[in-house]
Amino acid sequence: MMDKRGQFSSKIGFLLAAVGSAVGLGNIWGFPTQAASNGGGAFVLAYLLLAFLLAYPALMAELVIGRYARANIVTALGDLGKQPHTRLLGKAVGYYGVLIASLILSFYAIVAGWMLAEFGQPLTQLIGWHSAAQWLAQESILRNLIVALVFMALTIWIVARGVEAGIEAWSTRLMPVLFVILLGLIVYVLFQPGATQGLRTYLVPDFRQLTDPALLLSAMGQAFFSLSLGVGTMLIYGSYLRKQDSLPRLGAAVTLMDTGIAFTAGLLIIPAMYVAQHHGVPIYGEGGELLAGPGLIFQVLPSLFDTMGTAGVGLSIAFFALMSIAALTSSISMLEAPVSVTVERTQLQRPGAALAIGAAIFVVSVLIIFNMETLFGFIISLTTEYSQPLLGIALCIFVGWIMHRNHVLEELKAGHKDIEHSVFWKVWPFYVRVICPVLILLAFVQSLRG
Ligand code: TRP
Repeated sequence: MMDKRGQFSSKIGFLLAAVGSAVGLGNIWGFPTQAASNGGGAFVLAYLLLAFLLAYPALMAELVIGRYARANIVTALGDLGKQPHTRLLGKAVGYYGVLIASLILSFYAIVAGWMLAEFGQPLTQLIGWHSAAQWLAQESILRNLIVALVFMALTIWIVARGVEAGIEAWSTRLMPVLFVILLGLIVYVLFQPGATQGLRTYLVPDFRQLTDPALLLSAMGQAFFSLSLGVGTMLIYGSYLRKQDSLPRLGAAVTLMDTGIAFTAGLLIIPAMYVAQHHGVPIYGEGGELLAGPGLIFQVLPSLFDTMGTAGVGLSIAFFALMSIAALTSSISMLEAPVSVTVERTQLQRPGAALAIGAAIFVVSVLIIFNMETLFGFIISLTTEYSQPLLGIALCIFVGWIMHRNHVLEELKAGHKDIEHSVFWKVWPFYVRVICPVLILLAFVQSLRG
C-alpha cells in the first residue's frame, strides 16, 4: 500500500501547497484586523517574533515527524513510541488532531461561503443576472447553506483528485493568482486619499502594549492558526515531501512567506479602511474601537467598493476572488488531514473518503448555520484557542521526548548533509523539547485565567 502514497512532484510544488495551506482567511482577514485592534505595529512586531521563535520550531516538529513516518498523523504518532501506552497516546493525539482539523473546516467553510457570495454578487450583476445578485446580497440561512455547500464541494473535489493532481496542481495554479491580485489591490489602494493614515496606524507601534499578556497571547494564537499547526495538516504535507529536500530550509521558507503575506495583507486592509472613512464609511464601532471581525470585511469594504463606481465593481470582484482562493487552498489542507488517515488506515479509496468525510463535516456546518449564536464562536474558541496550542505542545513533546534523537537527525540529514554542524541543530532539539512546550503552556494558562 505504501508505494501508492502520493508525493509532491517538486520543492516548489510542496512550497506552494504548504504556503497555500498557511495563507488563508487567517492572514488576509484575521491578522490585519487583530493588528488594527491591538496596538498596530506592536502587534505586528509580537506576531513576527512569535512566528519565528515559537511557530517555526513547532512547524519543524510536524514536518520532521511527517516525513520520517511517511504517514498520516494517527499512524505517525502511533508508531513513534516503543511502549504500548505511548503508542496508544500517539494514536489518541492523532485522532484528536484530525477531529480538530475537521471542526476547523466546519466553520471555515461557512466564512469561505460568505466570501464566495460576495465574489458572485458583483459578477452576477455585471452579466445581468440581477435576481441572482440580489439573492446573493441578501443574508439568509438558505443562502449561507448553499454557498457553504458550493465551497465544500470544491474542497472535496480537489482533495478527491489526490496529492499531485489535486492539492499540488490547484495550489500551483491558484497561489500565483493570489499574489498578483494582492499586489495589484495594494498598489491601487495606497494611491487613494486616506491611505497614509491607515499605514501609520498599522505600522507605528504603541510599545506600551507589547507588555500586555493578552496581546502576546492573541499574537501566539494567530501565529499557530496561520501556520496551520497542531492538527496534522503540516505533518501530512511533510509526509508527501521528497527525501532529498531540506526540511529546515523549506520550513523557514513557508514561515517567511506566510508571515510576509500576512504583513502584506495588512498594507491592503488597514489603509483600505481609512480610504473608506475618507469616503464617509464609518469604520469605528460604538465604543470608538476600529471595526474588526465580520463587520470589516462584510460592511466596510463593500461600502467602500460601492462608493467607487465601476472601479469598485472590479475591485470587489478581485478582492473577494482573493479571499476565496486563499480560503480554498487552506480548506483542502484541512480536509486532507482526516482523509489521509482514512485512506491509509481503512479500505476506503480517496474519492469515497473525501466525499464521506466532507459530507460529515458539512453536516456540522449546517448545525452551526442553524445555531449561529451558540455554536459559531464556541467552535472557534474550542478549536483554535484551546485545542491548537495543546496539540502543538503534544507534537513538540513527541518529537522532543519520544522520537529517537538519531532518527530526528537522520531525517534532517536526508535533505541537508551538514545539518549536524548548523546552528539549527545546536538550538532546535532543546528548543522543541523544553522551551516550546513551556512557553506555549504558559500562554495557555494565561488564557485560561483571562
Ligand atoms: N492557516 C490557514 C489560515 O490562515 C487556516 C488553516 C489551514 C488551518 N489549515 C489549518 C488552521 C489547520 C488550523 C489548522 O487561514
